[in-house]
Amino acid sequence: MTDGVDPLRVEEVSVSFGGLRALDDVSLRVPAGGIIGLIGPNGAGKTTLFNAVTGAVDPVRGAVWLFGQDVTRWAPHNRARLGVGRTFQRLELFGSLTVKENLVVAAESHAGRGGLLSDLLALPASIETRAAAEERATAVLAELGLDGHADAVAGELPTGLSRLVELGRALCTEPRLLLLDEPSSGLRAQESRKLADYLRDTRERRGTSALVVEHDMAFVLGLCDYVYVLDFGRLLAEGTPAEIRRDPAVQAAYLGEDTETHAGSAAGG
Ligand SMILES: Nc1ncnc2c1ncn2[C@@H]1O[C@H](COP(=O)(O)OP(=O)(O)O)[C@@H](O)[C@H]1O
Ligand SMILES: [Mg+2]
Repeated sequence: MTDGVDPLRVEEVSVSFGGLRALDDVSLRVPAGGIIGLIGPNGAGKTTLFNAVTGAVDPVRGAVWLFGQDVTRWAPHNRARLGVGRTFQRLELFGSLTVKENLVVAAESHAGRGGLLSDLLALPASIETRAAAEERATAVLAELGLDGHADAVAGELPTGLSRLVELGRALCTEPRLLLLDEPSSGLRAQESRKLADYLRDTRERRGTSALVVEHDMAFVLGLCDYVYVLDFGRLLAEGTPAEIRRDPAVQAAYLGEDTETHAGSAAGG
């Protein structure tokens, strides 16, 4: 899983908001085919790190590399074009559209890239784009077991299904790297396990790498190959799930007495 160029490298990145140092000298790496976790309490800087990777915020120091290119000064849409898909901590589906329409829009925006000429001319090529987008959306719906919900109005879905639709929308852009911000937030344990299965399947099928930001320890420790722990904008620890579980600093800071129980159930599930 370590062959090929790293989808993501974050090197000594610091981000400031006025006087607040939201990230302080943070380095991490997502190897090809890796599913990597980033955990830490609220306000630790997890979403800010995602934003530094996508280009939504500019670091005051450090560098971001995507697929072997230094993108630190690149605009967000150019970074996305390299094959980076993300989901948001707060769901951002089009509430009045159906599930399938949400996916088709995402697939179309992806297919539209590089098709600038046909876009400008509004030629029949756009009909092909629409057909390809529909096909892609249908395939992703099937992969995520959402076929039965294709015509449901997205805004009326329960959280568990909404999270899957968000993942589906990201998958419609055929990402090589997925950035997932608290994907299991609001999910029941069984739904979280299903989501973890889909993420593993996606890696198997497409070789998609992922950086998963989570609050939910059990989810991350059960899913990820390697885990980074953020605390007040600094890396507190990194290691395999087993190492993180044992790390006294991590236990003291976050996991408390629940560590064994949660970790045990995650490993068992
Ligand atoms: N756009 C912003 N402007 C000012 N402060 C921000 C902004 N975004 C995040 N912060 C602050 O940066 C810190 C890290 O936030 P965030 O990255 O959202 O943490 P997490 O995702 O780990 O909960 C928090 O103190 C938060 O209030
Ligand atoms: Mg966050």
